[in-house]
Amino acid sequence: MTMDKFLVPAVAKPLDGEVEIAGAKNAVLAIMPAALLADGISEISNVPHLKDMKTMSDVLRIIGCRIDGENHKLRIDTRGANHLEAPYELVKTMRASFYVLGPLVARFGRCRVSLPGGCAWGPRPIDLHLKGLEALGAKINITHGYVEATCEGRLKGGTFHFPISSVGATVNLLLAATLAEGESILQNAAIEPEIDNLVDYLISMGAKIQGRGTRTLIIQGVESLTPGKGETIADRIEAGTFLCGAVITRGRVKVTHMVPEHIMSVLNVFKEIGCDVAIGDSWVEVDARNKSLKPISVTTLPYPGFPTDLQAPLMATLASIEGNSLIQDTIYHDRFTHIAELKRLGADIQLNGNTATIIGGKSLEGADVMASDLRASAALVLSGLIAEGETTISRIYHLDRGYEDFEAKMAKLGATVSRIRPELA
Ligand code: EPU
Repeated sequence: MTMDKFLVPAVAKPLDGEVEIAGAKNAVLAIMPAALLADGISEISNVPHLKDMKTMSDVLRIIGCRIDGENHKLRIDTRGANHLEAPYELVKTMRASFYVLGPLVARFGRCRVSLPGGCAWGPRPIDLHLKGLEALGAKINITHGYVEATCEGRLKGGTFHFPISSVGATVNLLLAATLAEGESILQNAAIEPEIDNLVDYLISMGAKIQGRGTRTLIIQGVESLTPGKGETIADRIEAGTFLCGAVITRGRVKVTHMVPEHIMSVLNVFKEIGCDVAIGDSWVEVDARNKSLKPISVTTLPYPGFPTDLQAPLMATLASIEGNSLIQDTIYHDRFTHIAELKRLGADIQLNGNTATIIGGKSLEGADVMASDLRASAALVLSGLIAEGETTISRIYHLDRGYEDFEAKMAKLGATVSRIRPELA
């Protein structure tokens, strides 16, 4: 873990320019474990260079896979996979490591995966992953902080109804159901674009899945799958973050190599605020220059609603707009650790339950602040861009988990965000 900090020197010019969006971290995190379902070398392209990809590679290496890659391509060779365990040291640093549970029990009939433990913004249960796997015939035993999953022969196709929409539990069950005996039906499955990306990848491996893009996924289990090949979709959260940058600095940003349809809820928010939004086939431009922007109310929801992952960047943005805005997070009720840090910069935000009232338009002053999670880090950088004087953001290892070449992309848009390495400080 590096202790790098970011220094945002003074008020930035309005952002102006174009950035290319990288592959979606959360899609790759679901696709990499899919490789475990087959014997051989699977390939994934458009993979971002991020800490989380390295952590998932480490998890797969412990299992016995060989992983290499260059130019945003990854090759995962599963021929040596025989150590059916994901240890606490890795799972605790990245919850998505838990995704190996489904494919390992489906293909090998047993595995042992550490419970993820807590998260900076409150409890994040995994009960649906476990109940869902039990519905497919897995026996689950929790002992010494580990989940042990076993099955006699193959998993058995079954029906599971998700009481709430869960991206992670949908991933785990989908992975497991591909190799189960007979038909599985996942009702009220998540429909985030990253799930569609995984479905396409699994289909490239020979999986039989119907209902892509809908809340009912029907999987005809097959006896074996072949190695996969596929391309990662663009990161809609990275795109949304840079577009927030356009709004907060009253500039203009074009994001390219992305899928506009994936961020429609976000673009609607920008339009409601009063920005111009232009949409192309693989790009979006948000123009906030010389606009008088209005406060709004936003509620985070499962896709296609406004994503919880953009709640913090949007909050920073709304704090720059005169008037009272509201943000309610219905996905994670405690994901608000960034509020205290935004307040240190001078923002006026009150939290009541899972709803934040942002009394916008206060001028911000640079300060030392601390990132508490990935998206909170981005929010702090955005606020730093409009704060008078220097802002220093510590613990940016959080940001490095999810934004590739962040400083370089900011520089392309005309902003200075410098990385300070402790040994150079
Ligand atoms: N939930 C349960 N039980 C479960 C699983 C989830 O109650 O077994 C609840 C959660 O507590 C939450 C809701 O269901 O209230 C939705 O959680 P979900 O399972 O969809 O979240 P996740 O799969 O753990 C993924 C992303 C998150 C993103 C959320 C919501 C990955 C690796 N992570 O998490 O992304 O915030 O979906 O969209 O895909 C990030 O990238 O920074 C990040 C945290």
